[in-house]
Amino acid sequence: MLAVLAADSQTAKGAGVKPQPTLLTTDAAVQAAASAVLASGEYKAGANETVLLHTPSGVAAKRLLIVGLGKLAKATVHSVRDAAGTAVRFAKPRGIRELALALPSSEILPAASLPQSASARAAVEGAFVGDFDPDIYRSERKDQSVQSFTLLAPAGAGQESVKEAVEAAFAEGAIVGESQNFARSLINEPGNKLTPTVLGQRAALMAQEVGLDWEVHSTEKLHELKMGAFWSVAQGSAEPPALIVLRYTPEGVTDGPIMGLVGKGITFDTGGISLKPSDNMEKMKYDMAGGAAMMGAMRAIALLKPRVRVIAIVCAAENMPSGTAQKPGDVQTAMPLSAETPGKTIEIINTDAEGRLVLADGLTYARQLGATHLIDAATLTGAISVALGKINAGAFSNDDPTYARFDAAIQVSGEKFWRLPLGEEYADLIKSDIADIKNTGGRFGGAISAAEFLHAFAEDTPWIHLDIAGMAWVEDSRPYIAKGPSGIGVRSILEWVRSF
Ligand code: BES
Ligand code: MN
Ligand code: ZN
Repeated sequence: MLAVLAADSQTAKGAGVKPQPTLLTTDAAVQAAASAVLASGEYKAGANETVLLHTPSGVAAKRLLIVGLGKLAKATVHSVRDAAGTAVRFAKPRGIRELALALPSSEILPAASLPQSASARAAVEGAFVGDFDPDIYRSERKDQSVQSFTLLAPAGAGQESVKEAVEAAFAEGAIVGESQNFARSLINEPGNKLTPTVLGQRAALMAQEVGLDWEVHSTEKLHELKMGAFWSVAQGSAEPPALIVLRYTPEGVTDGPIMGLVGKGITFDTGGISLKPSDNMEKMKYDMAGGAAMMGAMRAIALLKPRVRVIAIVCAAENMPSGTAQKPGDVQTAMPLSAETPGKTIEIINTDAEGRLVLADGLTYARQLGATHLIDAATLTGAISVALGKINAGAFSNDDPTYARFDAAIQVSGEKFWRLPLGEEYADLIKSDIADIKNTGGRFGGAISAAEFLHAFAEDTPWIHLDIAGMAWVEDSRPYIAKGPSGIGVRSILEWVRSF
């Protein structure tokens, strides 16, 4: 099948002329094949709107699929990413296994709005992301994956340098898309299949495949490092925790920044003694999506080889109620940054605010290992969805220049994050009567007081916190992505790291 793009334009002039969508391909045979349906007014080229034509004459493919980008003036590489995903998801259930996508012609769309290689990379990412389906536990599942995906660069892009750039963009898009899908495959796993130990094994396997250094520790190491906050969550479960460390060291790089990536890896969150209601509790298998995002980003980093050192830490545990579980009112001592400084004491108000506890020690450990810049990702609060809906994920930072790089990264990744404030008045919400800090700050501004809790452990190391609780799971399938784990964070974290 050949997929081509069209956009909704208002280029028609004169009375009585119906505006019709613009085909973004100049090929004469494709134009002739598409002309009737475009003129009919039935197809408006809305975002991800499709129309299929059989046996288009003069075209080698048996089927021609037109995919809409929405308004022409607003078309971006992000619309191209989604359109490619839409084409793949159109092909899959129809048994179409070979797909070619024509990139938008620069004769129609100025390269300034849709740069050739950025479009190519985004299209390949979209194709991989679109190909993923989460139904791996169905007994009679048929693999409907698209087997072959080809990009057709428009005529005029024949120059050798352009060809090379598009080919490199294709390879990069494949790495990024596959890394995002790797994260999604982990997030999709149920809590009984993916325990902290299994997550550690999956990390080690991936690290060996792509050539990262890795260590996976458990209970003993948590005690040795005095990770009292991380352990307080793990102590209630029969499953041992996993402290996953992945290291990327580019050859010859011995100075400059060290990026510290810290992920929440709660493989199931029951709430603990502050037990969650049963409605939707099954979704809490995705409470390790932040950790999975870091693993996906590390996979891409290992393959794309930026010139900067990176350490990723995933704090994996199960949050369970049991005779050994921590209780509201307990006081825990977090990991000390060094032998001279004591760890902060934490009054546990709610055992369901466990993500911030494991991250507190993860952030401290990253700093102890030399991280100069920190980024964490976590399905941290329900409050972030109350604030931002399921449209944007939340972002927080204690350092504007560091955040500026993230802002640039999301322009490339197309992932939607919205920055929220921090501040002393919010930090006041988590002052404890009996300890240094308490683990909840009340209902109002809940995502921000959670971020302030983490800030207390990042201290003045430049740091970004991503609260992806509202965005880690796609609730309803879309034309370009299946219902299920989204893999949000992988692409933006990768781009942020590459900016250093
Ligand atoms: N894992 C949850 C947050 C969450 C909620 C993720 C919904 C994905 C979807 C987190 O551990 C949690 O339970 N947070 C509490 C914090 C509260 C007790 C202060 C919450 O948001 O209710
Ligand atoms: Mn919780
Ligand atoms: Zn949680």
